[in-house]
Amino acid sequence: MSYELSNGDPNVTPRTPALATKLPSVGTTIFTVMSTLAAEKGAVNLGQGFPDFDCDPALVAAVSDAMARGLNQYPPMIGVPVLRESIAAKLQAWHGPHGGRAYDAAGEITITAGATQAILTAILAVVHAGDEVIVLEPCYDSYVPNIELAGGTPVRVPLVPGTFRPDFDRIAAAIGPKTRAILINSPHNPSATVWTREDMLRLQEILDPTDILLISDEVYEHMVFDGRNHESAARYPGLAARAFIVSSFGKTYHVTGWKIGYVAAPAPLSVEFRKVHQFNVFTVNTPMQYGLAGYMRDPAPYLDLPAFYQRKRDLFRAGLAQTRFRLLPSEGSYFQCVDISQLAVPERSLGEAEFCKWLTTEIGVAAIPLSAFYGNGFDQNVVRFCFAKKDETLALALGRLARL
Ligand SMILES: Cc1ncc(COP(=O)(O)O)c(C=O)c1O
Repeated sequence: MSYELSNGDPNVTPRTPALATKLPSVGTTIFTVMSTLAAEKGAVNLGQGFPDFDCDPALVAAVSDAMARGLNQYPPMIGVPVLRESIAAKLQAWHGPHGGRAYDAAGEITITAGATQAILTAILAVVHAGDEVIVLEPCYDSYVPNIELAGGTPVRVPLVPGTFRPDFDRIAAAIGPKTRAILINSPHNPSATVWTREDMLRLQEILDPTDILLISDEVYEHMVFDGRNHESAARYPGLAARAFIVSSFGKTYHVTGWKIGYVAAPAPLSVEFRKVHQFNVFTVNTPMQYGLAGYMRDPAPYLDLPAFYQRKRDLFRAGLAQTRFRLLPSEGSYFQCVDISQLAVPERSLGEAEFCKWLTTEIGVAAIPLSAFYGNGFDQNVVRFCFAKKDETLALALGRLARL
C-alpha cells in the first residue's frame, strides 16, 4: 500500500499537512447555502442579490466586438485608458455639479475585478497589523474577513436597530489611536437605507481632525428611489480627499457575473492601491473593459435605473402589503427587508436563519436572514428579499408568500 501511495519510495508516506486557518470563523456563506437550497427545492430565489434578467444586448455586442477586433491580450495593469477616461468623465458629469472631486483618469482610477476585489485590495493596501477598522453592522460579508486577512482588527459599530441609520455618537466613540479606516456602504446592503447629505456632512466633520481613511462602497449608487440623491463621498471634499470610492459595473448594468468595477481615489492613495492590485490580480479582462468604455458614454442606462428598480420595488411591496410581513423602507439598492414577527405561522419564531430555510423548503421562496450580516448573529426577526427579478418571478414569489 505505502509502495503505491509513495510513488515507489517505501520510506515516504504522502500526507497533507494540517493548516492553521487564517479565518477560523468563516464557513460556507449563507448566500451559497440559500442558493443551493433554493435550487434543490425548486424555490424562487429572492435570496442572493443578482438579476434573473439579461443585460442590454448592445453591451454584449460591444464586448463581442472588442473580442472580434482582437482586443484579447493583457491590458495595462491599471485598466485600459479609454475606460478610465470614460469613468473620469462620468464622475465629473454626475458629481461635478454637486461639488464633486475631479478624478484624474491616469493617476486616480483603477479598474478592478469587481467591487469585492477593490475592497480587499484597498484594505490590504492601508491596513497594517494591529490597525483597527470600523465597520457598521449589518454589513456586506467580505469586509470583516478582509480586515482580518490584513492583520487588522474589525471594530463593529451597529447601525441603529430598527431604522439602520448611522449612530454618529457611537462611530465617534469607536475612534481611537489605532483606527486606520472606516468602511461605509450607501445605498446599503442589506437594509436598503440611503445616507443623507446630513449623514455625509456629519461623517466628514468627525473624520476631519483625524488621519482615518474612508472606504466608501457605492456599488448600488444608481439605485436610489423616491427622488433621493446618491450622496457619493466624491461630493464631500473632506471625505473625497481620504476616500477609496468603490463601484461595480455588475450592479449598474445587470452583469454581476462579469466581476468588473473600479476604485477612484486621490493619487497618493491610488499609488498604494495599485501596488497591491498589481500582485493580486495584475489586470482585469480586456474585452469587457473596451465594451464598457463605449457603452457607458451614454448616460441613459444609469439615469433610467432608479425608475426601473423603483417600479419593481413598488410591485413587490404592493404584493407584500397583502401579507403579514411588515415592510421596512426600501430607499435604495435592490433589496426589501421585512419583519416576520407578525406572521400567522408558528415558524416565525424559529429565528431568522431557520425561518429562511423553512421558507425556502416549504413555501418555495428563498430569502436571506439579516443575522448573517452581523458578527454575533444578532437576530431581529428581519429577512431580506432581492427584487432584481423579472416581473413574473416576483409574481410567482408573491403568490407563494400570499399564504403567510
Ligand atoms: C455592498 C456590496 N459591496 C460589494 C459587492 C460586490 O460587488 P462585485 O460583484 O462587483 O464584486 C456587493 C455584491 O453583492 C455588495 O452588495
